[in-house]
Amino acid sequence: MKWNVLNEQMLHGGDYNPDQWLDRPDILEKDIELMKASHVNAASVGIFAWAALEPEEGRYEFDWLEKIINNLYDNGIYTVLATPSGARPVWMALNHPEVLRVGPDLVRNHMGARHNHCYTSPYYREKVWNIDKKLSERFGRHPGVILWHLSNEYGGECYCPLCQQEFRNWLKKKYGTIEALNKQWWTSFWSHTYSSFDQIEPPIPKGELSVHGLVLDWRRFVTDRTVDFCAWEKAAVRAGGSDVPVTTNLMGFYDGLNYFKFRDVLDIVSWDNYPFWHRNPADESDTAIQAAASHDLMRSIKQEPFLLMESVPGAVNWQPVCRLKKPGMHELSSLQAVAHGSNSVQYFQWRKSRGSSEKFHGAVVGHDGTGNTRMFREITALGKRLENLKALTASTVKPEAAIIFDWENRWALDQMQGLLNNSFENMGRPNDPKHYFPTILDNYSAFWRMGIPVDLVDMSCDFSSYKLVIAPMLYMQRENIVQKLRSFVENGGTLVGTYWSGLVNENDLCHQSFNPFGMQDLFGLYSEEIDALWPDQKNWLVMKDDGRRYELTDLCDIVKISTAEVLACYADDFYAGAPALTKNSFGKGTAYYLAARAGRDFFFDFYNALTKDLDVTRSLGSSELPANVTASLRIGPDAQFVIVQNYNAAPVSFTAAAALTDFETGEAVSVINLQPYGVRIFYKN
Ligand code: GLA
Ligand code: ZN
Repeated sequence: MKWNVLNEQMLHGGDYNPDQWLDRPDILEKDIELMKASHVNAASVGIFAWAALEPEEGRYEFDWLEKIINNLYDNGIYTVLATPSGARPVWMALNHPEVLRVGPDLVRNHMGARHNHCYTSPYYREKVWNIDKKLSERFGRHPGVILWHLSNEYGGECYCPLCQQEFRNWLKKKYGTIEALNKQWWTSFWSHTYSSFDQIEPPIPKGELSVHGLVLDWRRFVTDRTVDFCAWEKAAVRAGGSDVPVTTNLMGFYDGLNYFKFRDVLDIVSWDNYPFWHRNPADESDTAIQAAASHDLMRSIKQEPFLLMESVPGAVNWQPVCRLKKPGMHELSSLQAVAHGSNSVQYFQWRKSRGSSEKFHGAVVGHDGTGNTRMFREITALGKRLENLKALTASTVKPEAAIIFDWENRWALDQMQGLLNNSFENMGRPNDPKHYFPTILDNYSAFWRMGIPVDLVDMSCDFSSYKLVIAPMLYMQRENIVQKLRSFVENGGTLVGTYWSGLVNENDLCHQSFNPFGMQDLFGLYSEEIDALWPDQKNWLVMKDDGRRYELTDLCDIVKISTAEVLACYADDFYAGAPALTKNSFGKGTAYYLAARAGRDFFFDFYNALTKDLDVTRSLGSSELPANVTASLRIGPDAQFVIVQNYNAAPVSFTAAAALTDFETGEAVSVINLQPYGVRIFYKN
């Protein structure tokens, strides 16, 4: 494996589409000149190049690609080589329409767009296998090729007869008998009992959406199908003789796939990051927090450094309003990725295309074709800086705290009817009416403000290395989570649980018990009822020790205490005085229970005190971080690096509590001065 190359330096570069410019040797030559000028050392090539690689069925044209890869390599630029399966050539769609996707309306698409293919179609799989294997045979041992970029942003789903049949096979494998399926899906409700697997259709707007077990299993199946397709592509490049590591570009919190299931197929995780910078220029923290959490989620999949595969130089072209990155923001947002464990800064795209839908998407090189732009200069400066950060590539982020974010739990919460409902958009699926995602981010925000590294793990992960695990809204229980959390606390861990936890099993079937199921002795309480509030209604959590009040929204759980100690109570409604925050000893550890949805002010105060108690490592020791400034920590075999980031448009200066040496200048530092949107990297002594 060529891990050595990936660990030797920060990669800097991005999506490069020379196949759009094969008739312009002058442009291809200029590309190399500008890549060298901007300190680019990696180009992701061939992502949507199938039509150029196989212009007609069975006729492969790889010579142009060889020239490109050789030329890049001769000029010190590595190739991240893509398999072209993210979009198919016209001839294929016309000759074999079965490669095209069928939508939830059960109508087959026409040729067009990308990601418009069936992951089951044997013909598509065969064509993908052939071209992937041939690419591997020809280029898989080329010294310039350091990484396989499998397809592009796998996503979406297909409802064709073949996929439907695969779904039925998947169900048969999972349940064994139709009786077992009927029981877990509770199909006797509304007389939806099946008598054979052949009768089952996927969930579709004009058909069945009310059987929650069906909807969940379909979404799991879609993940498994996609992982299977990804594994197929990996097998094809291995069959071609290449042992170069594989990745695929994921999409952060994208709802459609459970990315933790890609853990074993991918050798390295990479992802595409497009935050809405400057949505609120006076306070970038919301955007910064969401981007930071996304990086942490992606890193947590393999608990290893990852690659930032795409980000935009300048402005994207698909956000509602496509703002420019203000001077300095490009470097800050790029180094934010590095701070959270990325070993690269890569862009979509190297050069703007002349036509089609992305012609105005930000790029390193614009239609002017020169390096004479503000963005090019900023990218060049960043490229230079990245060259000096080699030492960081051997380090990673090793948090002592984790927040559980679980895709399947999210799906179950989204479709659950009750408590909080909103309009049914998104193909009959409600759109996060329970606010699971913002709740995750609210918990996360406290750690960002304190500069405490945190993992975002799902229920399949191992929690034993953490001091603190936070499990917001653990509605669904799967992957033996009850036992795992119990032993985590028993062995001395600290757990924070919340309202609306432990209601259903992995098939969304309610437990016949008070909730949280299997954890009542762990928290020393049980929930008897839960109240839901309209958006304009509030309650308050009042701390018993000092009377501090925090606003509560959304959901208020009314719990009965057995052994827990009450730390705070509700101030309002018929449950005023009932417990709102509790603490319980269990084995060698402690379990807190937050009964209602609190805001970021509460989480900051609560986790600030708790992490001090637990002595959870802060990136900058006990330094008080100014507003909109955070610090991250990468731990290497020989050194620790603190990356301090200023999300303010103004300079900031504060005193560090830890002894620091500036990694880039060697200067010993006690007062940290940061430029507007500035980033500094320190050795932690
Ligand atoms: C995605 C895709 C790219 C490009 C960018 C535009 O991340 O992978 O091909 O379309 O979006 O932002
Ligand atoms: Zn299909």
